Amino acid sequence: MDVIEAVNKRRSIRAFKSDPVPEAILKRIVEAALHAPSASNSQPWELAVVSGAKMAEIKKAVAENSGRPSVDMPGAIQYPEPYASRRAAVMAGALEKLGIPREDKEARAKWGMQGANVWGAPSCIYIMIDRAFLYVNNEINIWPAFDCGAITQTILLLATEQGLGTIPAVQPVLYPDIIREKLNLPASKLFVVAIPIGYPDRDHPVNELRTTREPLDKMVTFY
Ligand SMILES: Cc1cc2nc3c(=O)[nH]c(=O)nc-3n(C[C@H](O)[C@H](O)[C@H](O)COP(=O)(O)O)c2cc1C
Repeated sequence: MDVIEAVNKRRSIRAFKSDPVPEAILKRIVEAALHAPSASNSQPWELAVVSGAKMAEIKKAVAENSGRPSVDMPGAIQYPEPYASRRAAVMAGALEKLGIPREDKEARAKWGMQGANVWGAPSCIYIMIDRAFLYVNNEINIWPAFDCGAITQTILLLATEQGLGTIPAVQPVLYPDIIREKLNLPASKLFVVAIPIGYPDRDHPVNELRTTREPLDKMVTFY
């Protein structure tokens, strides 16, 4: 598969088949993805590839927990315009595909838990950075998070080439302490995003969602 084909084919998958992904394929993907660029070749990412019994343990612990959701990454998640409208469009699009009315809070909350359940994916790649590099002299060092974006997209494209579905997502890491505990990780390992990975459930309506993009002439200036 050409890179351009992988770029065009990739889209976020929010319903997976339970079929496991062979470990050799997961290994090939993450090994190649380690070639992603990073600031000063600092390679700040740390990856946890979770499948099988450990994945099941995390899904169960997250589903059963009654704690408050939180994210490891600092800063307020706020969306002024024009970003708010783009966010609203993708959320409305997903609810429409799912047949969930906006005002049905219960159904929305139930669907929200699917994110914590990695949308049924058999595996999940957690992308982490160390607290000591995210905070330097009490200031946020943004570059490691930027670099994690580079390796994330590299993983997504390599997975597409393998016929796998993925989604880069924060929802699966809304209970970071539980996941750290299950993976025996110290509090210094911070989750940037998770990438649920598996074979897409092509019959699930949510996977019909197609997000739009602003046109070239609005986003890009050629000089
Ligand atoms: C950092 C990041 C976090 C995201 N978190 C979530 C999430 O928690 N839940 C979700 O449904 N989608 C999440 N997404 C997926 C975006 O909604 C998706 O990439 C965007 O709508 C574009 O759609 P596409 O990936 O299908 O092209 C996230 C994407 C990124 C890059």
